[in-house]
Amino acid sequence: MADRNDVSLFARAWVVASPLLERVGLADSRRRLVADLHGTVVEVGAGSGVTFEHYPPEVTRVVAVEPDPHLRAHALRYAAGAPVRVEVVDTVAEALPLADGEADAVVFGLVLCTVPDVAAALAEARRVLAPDGELRLLEHVRADGALGRVADRIAPVWSRVGGGCRPNRDTARRLDEAGFDVSGLRTSPFPPVFPLTPMLTGSARPRSPGRSPGPQ
Ligand SMILES: C[S@@+](CC[C@H](N)C(=O)[O-])C[C@H]1O[C@@H](n2cnc3c(N)ncnc32)[C@H](O)[C@@H]1O
Repeated sequence: MADRNDVSLFARAWVVASPLLERVGLADSRRRLVADLHGTVVEVGAGSGVTFEHYPPEVTRVVAVEPDPHLRAHALRYAAGAPVRVEVVDTVAEALPLADGEADAVVFGLVLCTVPDVAAALAEARRVLAPDGELRLLEHVRADGALGRVADRIAPVWSRVGGGCRPNRDTARRLDEAGFDVSGLRTSPFPPVFPLTPMLTGSARPRSPGRSPGPQ
């Protein structure tokens, strides 16, 4: 895992990079990420808050979790100008500040690559989701074939300079193992920038109790 100095260097770089990424196409991806949501939404690892402007008016409350102080300060600024109510909270994915079943949706955008304990983060997401709630995802994942093997090789260095980001996580498998139905997710080669591709996007809902993991 990256040390404190690396993470804050990354945070400074991300504040500059994230609005630029919006301009080269990520804005559309983020809009789709939160499109048609309603009610109470948890945005995990909100970063500098660039997604806030895309929430539709049917969302009544966004609880934006962000552990990094530098990014959180920027998120607070974006929250003040957001079209919906946004509360920015200092905590982590592994300890969400909501009661069981309180959230209509949990949003993960470019964050499951970074959280240290993916299983704990997904268990927390599942705990706070309402029975008919959903996860929304925009996550870069390990590529198949040679690119995946390169991602495996560069992962230690990439993680060190990228604030803990792992370019080779099999996030769909982790979701499946955590009890989510992954049939509503797809991977696409956008952005065409290795190792931030392919991108896993879409919606995943908790599987009904008793249904086993794997292809349904
Ligand atoms: C690549 S940035 C993405 C930020 C934002 N979601 C975006 O799309 O611009 C990764 C984010 O994950 C956050 N993060 C890292 N570990 C985390 C954890 N355990 N729980 C919640 N967020 C975490 C970082 O602070 C950072 O904001």
